[in-house]
Amino acid sequence: MIYLNGKFMPMEEARIPVLDRGFIFGDGVYEVIPVYSRHLFRLEEHLSRLQHSLDGIRLDNPHSAREWEERIRRLVELNEPEDQSVYLQITRGVAKRDHAFPKSIEPTVFMMSSPLVTPSRETLEKGVATISAADNRWLRCDIKATSLLPNVLLRQMAVDAGAAETILLRDGFLTEGAASNIFAVKDGILLAPPKDNLMLPGITYDVVIELAQSIGLPCEVRQVAENEIFSASELLLTSSTKEVTPITSLDGKPVGNGKPGPVFEKLHAAYQAFKHSVMRRA
Ligand code: PDD
Repeated sequence: MIYLNGKFMPMEEARIPVLDRGFIFGDGVYEVIPVYSRHLFRLEEHLSRLQHSLDGIRLDNPHSAREWEERIRRLVELNEPEDQSVYLQITRGVAKRDHAFPKSIEPTVFMMSSPLVTPSRETLEKGVATISAADNRWLRCDIKATSLLPNVLLRQMAVDAGAAETILLRDGFLTEGAASNIFAVKDGILLAPPKDNLMLPGITYDVVIELAQSIGLPCEVRQVAENEIFSASELLLTSSTKEVTPITSLDGKPVGNGKPGPVFEKLHAAYQAFKHSVMRRA
């Protein structure tokens, strides 16, 4: 079951006019919220990032936080899996094609749920391969925009190279992954690039930094230079669906000893424990 403009219906019944600005211009924003045992993980944080994205594209929020919560909970109820990934998107709506904002039209609100597929045991034991590429996206990567063409092309470069993710570098510094945030480990210190306009402020990124602090893992939030990425003892990627995933190769060369490292093991254990404690409290 999906949600479209106030109604729940089977996916096959959902229809969007071809002049929707999401289709024509990619004029919209989105969120992906992980659901564990039907508990919405970090909902408040996802909704506040959604507000930031809407503000960024100058689109009024069609719903209050309470209305969002009711709708998302209902969607989760209507779908079978205990663990789900809820995708929601808001576009500027349907209007005659013209780049400038149309006056007084209703936004299109769409939500769907998929089974949440977190990294397999094999992925956690072996890690994933990555490649590096120049970050050629726009300068508002903090907006979770549906116009993802650069991210699509960058991720496909990884797939073409038999890798799982592309690590993006801009002006000699790490920004993020094509669809994830990236952390490096140098001399036992977890390094994270600062949240700015060049990366998406990941919800998982925040959780990982909080967990590092709570388990006493040294962590520095600062610009991470390209050479620190290529000489890191560990690299990690994070996202709502990939959680904390170890990166064991970059551009065909092993990261550290080519195996998931001790910082990954600690953060992975802390993340799983945190997830379970949140579910128990819910
Ligand atoms: N993407 N950076 C980019 C460019 C992303 O697309 C994502 C997530 C992240 C991680 O953010 P979070 O921890 O809040 O999931 C960082 C989602 C999962 C997607 O597009 O499917």
